[in-house]
Amino acid sequence: VSVWNFSAGPAVFPKPVLERIAFELPDWHGTGQSVLELSHRSPAFEAIIADAEAALRRLLGVSDDYAVLFLQGGATLQFAAVPLNLAATKAAYVDSGAWAQKAIKEAQRYLDVDVVWSGRNDDYRRLPRPEEIEVLAGRGYLHLTSNETIGGVQLRDFPKHDLLVADMSSDILSRPLDVGSFGVIYAGAQKNLGPAGLTVVIVRKDLLRHAAVTTPSAIDYTQQAANGSLLNTPPTFAIYAAGLVFAWLEELGGLEEIALRNEEKAAFLYTAIDASDFYHSPIAPADRSLMNAPFRAPEALEPLFLQEASQAGLLELKGHRSVGGMRASLYNAMPLAGVQALVAFMGDFEGRNG
Ligand SMILES: Cc1ncc(COP(=O)(O)O)c(C=O)c1O
Repeated sequence: VSVWNFSAGPAVFPKPVLERIAFELPDWHGTGQSVLELSHRSPAFEAIIADAEAALRRLLGVSDDYAVLFLQGGATLQFAAVPLNLAATKAAYVDSGAWAQKAIKEAQRYLDVDVVWSGRNDDYRRLPRPEEIEVLAGRGYLHLTSNETIGGVQLRDFPKHDLLVADMSSDILSRPLDVGSFGVIYAGAQKNLGPAGLTVVIVRKDLLRHAAVTTPSAIDYTQQAANGSLLNTPPTFAIYAAGLVFAWLEELGGLEEIALRNEEKAAFLYTAIDASDFYHSPIAPADRSLMNAPFRAPEALEPLFLQEASQAGLLELKGHRSVGGMRASLYNAMPLAGVQALVAFMGDFEGRNG
């Protein structure tokens, strides 16, 4: 069956990568073993993780000043790992929506959080311009959420700060990035990187060796960096699959090419929404996410929209339970054809119900 998966994560996966995994799964490169069976200490797996790291570094332009870690526990564990590893007593957080709030709540267990900007009064429909964020000296790191997966807002420009920390779970690898302007970047894999179960952390090496003594070893950046992410058993299959996703992206032309495709896909959907009196986007146009597009129809018709969309093979369009409505996630692996199918369905539904 042919379907389009608009899930916010775990999400659509690049088809060529799925096919390659299916082909290689029983016998990895003639070893007679499945990649699922390889010891994380085997030379075969060491090559897999080294290749994955090298490809990720090439894609994002990560210099040797940074360690790249492949961890577990999701972005949620990083909400705690960041304050523990940076051993700060204070930090500044931007409250851009649901995910920023979770990061803030977790950080408050470890340090004093100064919320330096909040979208609350605007119902989280917009984001700050860089100059709207004022961080007092001595407030520690500045934490951002580059893309709010639930709210559907995405930062275009990042504020300048000498220690920027960003949760990039839902837009990493969707566009070129100046990694050098960040201290720590972290992301759960299950949107643009690979399978759920893997968490990528990119940390500037001068930030290592400051962790609080209570930091669990498995999330201690210094210990994991010293052990090449092999302090304990890493999510081996997820690292292998992420490596294939990175290779797919490189083959396609890298982040500049994928950014063009992502802009084209999002523009196609938002243009259709804006052209219609039936649908609308609640988000300020300048801050609309290219990855997650929430949209509304007349509320009484939304359940029927979702039911018929699902029957038409357009899956997982239900908005997050906290905001309702619809949400189309348009990650790297969603082809333009999927967005065209959605827009065609939307036009048809409006024609019959508008
Ligand atoms: C922006 C953002 N941050 C954090 C998380 C939490 O990630 P995880 O479930 O991997 O802990 C998510 C999950 O969707 C997310 O979208």
